[in-house]
Amino acid sequence: MILSERLKTIADFVPANSIVGDIGTDHGYLPVYLIEKGIAKKAIGTDISRNSLEKIYQLVKSRGLEKQIDVRLGNGLEVFKPFEVDTLVIAGMGGLLIRDILDNHKEVADSVSNFILQPNIAAKELREYLYDNNFEIIDERLVKEWDKYYEVIYAKKGKAYLKEDIYLEIGERLFINRDPLLKEYVQHKILVTENIIDKLDVDASEKSRDRYLELSKKIEDYKEVLSRIESF
Ligand SMILES: C[S@@+](CC[C@H](N)C(=O)[O-])C[C@H]1O[C@@H](n2cnc3c(N)ncnc32)[C@H](O)[C@@H]1O
Repeated sequence: MILSERLKTIADFVPANSIVGDIGTDHGYLPVYLIEKGIAKKAIGTDISRNSLEKIYQLVKSRGLEKQIDVRLGNGLEVFKPFEVDTLVIAGMGGLLIRDILDNHKEVADSVSNFILQPNIAAKELREYLYDNNFEIIDERLVKEWDKYYEVIYAKKGKAYLKEDIYLEIGERLFINRDPLLKEYVQHKILVTENIIDKLDVDASEKSRDRYLELSKKIEDYKEVLSRIESF
């Protein structure tokens, strides 16, 4: 099984010998990879869609992995009992959905040691939730695939202190690690925000004026971190 760069980065965070729950597994590539590479000793692939589940079920069967990979249909963590898995992967969904999945079944989330989270959007809101709910972000990595950037967050339960607000938008670990994609990622964020500003009709309403000020401030913050990165 050859994984995409994004899924490979997620797999690289999975600790050896873990029992992994992959929520919203869809195609099921990740559980199959983790078992075939001997990284996980057991994996449970789950999905809310019966159609997705059929895909992973066929893949698991075709590779003779039924003993090591369970397949479960359900919404988020409802398919687990506490302490059934020690590592959770929730990837390829919005940050708000990932946040809700963690929050809806705290008795399960609290029993898990490792969380590997990859929000497609709303990473800021997800980090906010993690900081506010006794998670500690242990590591982070950026991945670029087809001109799209992905943030992969590795967290554990613990206490963390948010040193600067910008670390909600751009994970502190990316700075500490001098992530190779960090500079172009921030430049990309500046471009995207400038494009939004260009389309705003500032004189149209007070709301659009406020939005303009908010986005201008955001660009200032990005530029400030960019100069920090350039001085690494
Ligand atoms: C875009 S796919 C991501 C697949 C894979 N995790 C990856 O990163 O490549 C999102 C999957 O999450 C599933 N999903 C969405 N909400 C879910 C929920 N509340 N519980 C379980 N699965 C969910 C969808 O059915 C879909 O198969």
